[in-house]
Amino acid sequence: MSSETRWARRTGSVIGEAAGEGAQCTGPPPRPRRADLQHCAPVPRRDRETFPRDPVKTPASLQTLIDDGVIDEVLRPLKSGKEAAVYVVRSGDDVRCAKVYKDMAQRSFKQRVQYQEGRKSRGSREARAVATGSKYGRRQQEAEWKNTEVDALYRLREAGVRVPEPHGYFHGVLLMELVTDSEGFSAPRLGEVELAAEQARAFHATLVRDVVRMLCCGLIHGDLSEYNVLVGPDGPVIIDFPQVVSAGGNNAARAMLLRDVNNLTASLGRWAPELLDTWYGEEMWALFEAGDLQPDTQLTGRFTPDLRRVDLDSVRDAINDARELALIRQQGREAQDED
Ligand SMILES: Nc1ncnc2c1ncn2[C@@H]1O[C@H](COP(=O)(O)OP(=O)(O)O)[C@@H](O)[C@H]1O
Ligand SMILES: [Mg+2]
Repeated sequence: MSSETRWARRTGSVIGEAAGEGAQCTGPPPRPRRADLQHCAPVPRRDRETFPRDPVKTPASLQTLIDDGVIDEVLRPLKSGKEAAVYVVRSGDDVRCAKVYKDMAQRSFKQRVQYQEGRKSRGSREARAVATGSKYGRRQQEAEWKNTEVDALYRLREAGVRVPEPHGYFHGVLLMELVTDSEGFSAPRLGEVELAAEQARAFHATLVRDVVRMLCCGLIHGDLSEYNVLVGPDGPVIIDFPQVVSAGGNNAARAMLLRDVNNLTASLGRWAPELLDTWYGEEMWALFEAGDLQPDTQLTGRFTPDLRRVDLDSVRDAINDARELALIRQQGREAQDED
């Protein structure tokens, strides 16, 4: 592996699954010990390897894909969260990733309303139905929520953002590239690897550039953190887009963008502390608002707020939005812990 892509898997209680998505980063992580690595390594063998496996119980939605000839086999479950369950599947000679969305009843309605603000419904009938909250409207909203991720993946690939290559959306299942590490294991998340300072700086630059490209498409991830970035052999890959936010039509867009960038900066700042003094989110938003942001705009990370034009209402709104989102996420984590 080249020095540019050198990193080690890092596991343990601080950044492990138990911390939950959206958890705040506190202090430097402990050095990984060999025993931790062995204990926590999530995928001990290559996905392509053929070896006797415990039979995997195939969920109904994936069985439909097998029956339709879209995939051939479910190899193993990868992860099951509150919103979706992810599986490794085989389509012919290709090993892919299938994300099966869970039903609406299991997700926070309030949270979705906030994220969906500013998204365009497909037609006026649909928009009216969603607004009235009728049964048809809820079904419509459910479909939109599920479609959003695949739409975003196609759009972002096109814009040059490093996201998994989508292979279609069938019966509530998103089929996409399985992101792997250089040895063929499913890729670790950003919070699970140990990085050299130089590597952390390079990852930060790549991710900031990808966030800019997204913003130039009018999109903000909305839940970007070390839990939704995988580390492949060529660098970071952003995943998990059902909550993607419209940059132009959502009142909380700025707060969400700043939170996304701050999460990345806080994570990578553990390895390269000078990143903690940068202001990329603020800088890119100011350029975006002024209509001056381009996918290749060179950012400096420096930002001086214009104190003559402080709009107290929007500051208060942003604080309240961030507070409310933090609360919703906390409730989500608590509900997940109870499951
Ligand atoms: N394309 C992919 N390649 C490899 N692993 C993936 C891929 N998509 C998701 N995963 C794994 O599944 C986990 C959950 O997927 P994600 O899209 O973040 O859904 P959610 O967080 O809503 O459960 C990720 O943290 C990652 O470990
Ligand atoms: Mg996720």
